[in-house]
Amino acid sequence: MGFSVATKLQWRTVIEQNTALAPADAAPAVAPATTSGIPAGVTHPKTIKSFVRRAGRTTTGQAKAFEDLGPRFVLPYTAAPIDATATFGRSAPLVLEIGFGMGEATAHIARVRPDDNFLCCEVHEPGVGALLKRIREQELTNIRILQHDAVEVIDHMLPEGSLDGVHIFFPDPWHKTKHNKRRLIQSPLVAKLAARLKPGGYLHCATDWQPYAEQILQVLSAEPLLQNTAEAFAPQPDYRPLTKFENRGLRLGHGVWDVVFIRRH
Ligand SMILES: C[S@@+](CC[C@H](N)C(=O)[O-])C[C@H]1O[C@@H](n2cnc3c(N)ncnc32)[C@H](O)[C@@H]1O
Repeated sequence: MGFSVATKLQWRTVIEQNTALAPADAAPAVAPATTSGIPAGVTHPKTIKSFVRRAGRTTTGQAKAFEDLGPRFVLPYTAAPIDATATFGRSAPLVLEIGFGMGEATAHIARVRPDDNFLCCEVHEPGVGALLKRIREQELTNIRILQHDAVEVIDHMLPEGSLDGVHIFFPDPWHKTKHNKRRLIQSPLVAKLAARLKPGGYLHCATDWQPYAEQILQVLSAEPLLQNTAEAFAPQPDYRPLTKFENRGLRLGHGVWDVVFIRRH
């Protein structure tokens, strides 16, 4: 079993900041009087997002990093397939990361794997600024950032068979049962990710919330294009570092579960 270390979530308290991205449990949108056959007054739930816009101050250093490095490292979201070779200025294996938070693991992995390109999605602006700072401090050249919903990036920017790997580390666990539907890792998204992986490409998830770990293992095991690299949970791959939050959790006796599947040939 790949039980390894622990972490404590720093993310549990989220603050709704942007009504355009209201949580699924907020009041649903009211349909306009309609030509689509749906009676006026019938309501639709908004698309369920796996995140909320959290409050958080962008520091002066992060803002400066945005100004200096944004033009080179932050890509605009466009609903068109990405040309990764042109974007990174070289041809190399492409790894997608979903939800890098403050980018601690992202920068570490980019540093220890200089021959790979990392396309990294995060919606939290201070996190983008923090990763840009790390890019500067660690002189990284193999990261590009999309400050956008990764689900839309997958849908519109990433063709099938375009990825060599996917990293999803400590996705928001959405602990309450009524919020479980907001979890990122569910069958429809996993099917899309599997289709975007090249044969032999990998999908690596890690979480410190056991019920979510079990859900991830179940959902990935049920995807016909994917094959587990372990009997159940995987040993922690050596490229994934222990972040300071994991270390703190380890001291508190929490568990962490890695799950690594590959795309079948
Ligand atoms: C619990 S944090 C973990 C961050 C980081 N991976 C770590 O290990 O510290 C989850 C992050 O995923 C981001 N996120 C959730 N859903 C996302 C989505 N659909 N697209 C982009 N980012 C997303 C959130 O904004 C949040 O920063």
